[in-house]
This record gives sequence, structure tokens and C-alpha cells, in this order.
Amino acid sequence: MPELSELNINAVKESFEAALKSVTNLETLDELRVRFTGKKGDLTLLLKSLGKLLPELRKQAGQELNKLRDEIEAKLNLTAKKLREAENEKQENNDRIDVTLPSKGRTAGAFHPVMQTMHEIINIMQGLGYSVATGPEKEEEFYNFECLNVPKWHPARDMQDTFYFPDGTLLRTHTSPVQIRSMLQYGAPLRIVCPGKVYRRDNDTTHSPMFNQMEGLLIDKNVPFSVMKGTIAEMINAFFGRSLKYRFRASYFPFTEPSMELDIECVECSGRDPHCRVCHGTGWLEVGGMGMVHPNVIRAGKIDPDIYNGFAFGFGLDRMAMLKYGISDLRLLFDGNISYFMSGFEEAKSC
Ligand code: PHE
Repeated sequence: MPELSELNINAVKESFEAALKSVTNLETLDELRVRFTGKKGDLTLLLKSLGKLLPELRKQAGQELNKLRDEIEAKLNLTAKKLREAENEKQENNDRIDVTLPSKGRTAGAFHPVMQTMHEIINIMQGLGYSVATGPEKEEEFYNFECLNVPKWHPARDMQDTFYFPDGTLLRTHTSPVQIRSMLQYGAPLRIVCPGKVYRRDNDTTHSPMFNQMEGLLIDKNVPFSVMKGTIAEMINAFFGRSLKYRFRASYFPFTEPSMELDIECVECSGRDPHCRVCHGTGWLEVGGMGMVHPNVIRAGKIDPDIYNGFAFGFGLDRMAMLKYGISDLRLLFDGNISYFMSGFEEAKSC
């Protein structure tokens, strides 16, 4: 019969204490737990041998053993807690993010330069109290031409310029039909800009069959010509971020009277380079058409032209983007060569 004495209780206690000191991580702690409290652990065996003790000794030995078991378990748990905390802290230190480090790689994407231009101009115009209006790209002749005072004989109606559908509808050739749609929808007074795609039967190095325009329309009482001039100058200067020279050239649009085209100082050479690749030495760049809205157009919008007048303008967004961002070839805007824009304009221009 094994002798369960104070001696071997103490021996187990001492060997546990000694082993606990050499525990450095949760794994070795677990091994220790098994060694003492596992099925065949030193402590478990002692507990099992209790039954074989003489009854008069059993009670005291039982109490002592239980005390030892509680002590061992408490120590095991406490050490486990400490080790876990230490491990967590180590992990946290490893995972710590240094927000001051420079980022790796490029951003995932960016706006297309034409969209960027569109947003910038919308922003500027919203600052001047304009709202954004839109209209369909598949348009009716009525809005694209008729209401805009474009007579049947006008060359813009020629099959050369316009894409027609068999049902007589067409792909809008400009954003001006949105003028009519907006007047009909909102009435006067009115201040809108309308960005969007337009289509013409044109395709060469400087023309694309699809391009982007930004229309503007202001309708109010007693609108003087000077407000149009000021608005356009404000828009151009805010967009290019500096004060550019500009000039109006008399022109003709059926929907405005008087009509004019706007030229701005060459953003590349300011007129100083006779061989400038942007202005070809003229010093001027044509950016858009505008004029005071024709009374027939105001009437088509169901507004009384004897009470209201206003101005309208139409700018090529692609051209504005090319000028601002130094893009030399219109086709680069549409051929989907993302690397051109991701690698920086200058690099791509030279290859
Ligand atoms: N719609 C004209 C074009 O596409 C531009 C324009 C708009 C001119 C508004 C005058 C007023 O060329």
C-alpha cells in the first residue's frame, strides 16, 4: 500500500514550484498542467491514492491535497493570464501602424481628365448660383434643332453632321436642347449648366464622333451683355487658375443673337512662340460659342421674351481638359490607354 505522507505532498509541491519557474510560454505551461493535473499527473495520482489510506489519515491528507490542488490550479491560471497578456502586447507592438510612413504604390484610380474638367467647371458654376441639368443623348429633332431656331435649310441639319435613327430621332449634336427642356421644366428665372456627350459625323485627328460639351444658360429680367462677359471670364480664370486675356469674335448661331465665339490667350505660350504647337503661333485659342438667347428660343421654352432675356454658352470640355492638362492629341482622351494618364502626361507625350 503506497504511503501517502506529508513528504510526498511536499515533494509534488516543490517540484511544481520549480517547474513553474522555467515556464516561458503558454505551450510549456500547458505541458506543466498535464504533468501535474492531467489524467496521469503527479497530483492526480496522489489524489487517486487517497482511497487506499487508512480512514483516520484520509481526512487530513485529503484536506492537504485539495489545498495543494487549488494552489496549483490558481498558479497555473495566473501564469496563463500573464503569458497571454505578454503575448498580446507583443502582437500589438508588431501590428502597430506607423501612419507617418509614405504609402506604397499608386492610388487605385483617378478621374478621367474630361470628367475632372467637368467637375471643376460645375464647381465653379455652382459657386455662381448655377444648377446642373441633364437631357437625353438620343434626342428629338424638335429639341435639337426646331426649338433652337435652326431652320430646315441650316447646314447643321445636313446628314453630314448628324447621326439619325431610322425613326427620325437623332444623337444630339450639342447640349443646347437641354436649354429648351430646362426652360419647359423649370420656367424663369433660370441658371443651369449642362455637361454631356454629343455626337457628330466627324472623325479625324482633331475631331471625334463623340465629344463632351458644357452648356450654360441664364434667363432673367434685363440681363445685360456684360453679365455674360463677366460670367465667362470668371469661369475661365477660375478654371485655369490665373487671369487670362480673352476676346470675343463675332459669329453666328441660329439660337443666339448676337452670337460670338470666345478666344483665350494661349495657355502654352501666351502668344510668344511663333511655332507653338498649341496655338500654331496665333496666340489665341478658341474655346466656345455663346450669345444672347434668341427670342424665338425663349418662346419655344414657353417663356415670354418680352419680359425675360438671357445668355447661353457652349464649351468643348475635351478641349478645356487638353488645354489645362497639356494633352496634345485628342485621341488620347478616348483610346483607353490608362498608362498615359497614370504615368504622367510629360512622360507619355515624349514617347
Ligand atoms: N451649341 C453650340 C455648338 O455646339 C454652342 C453654343 C451654345 C453657342 C450656346 C451659343 C450658345 O457649337
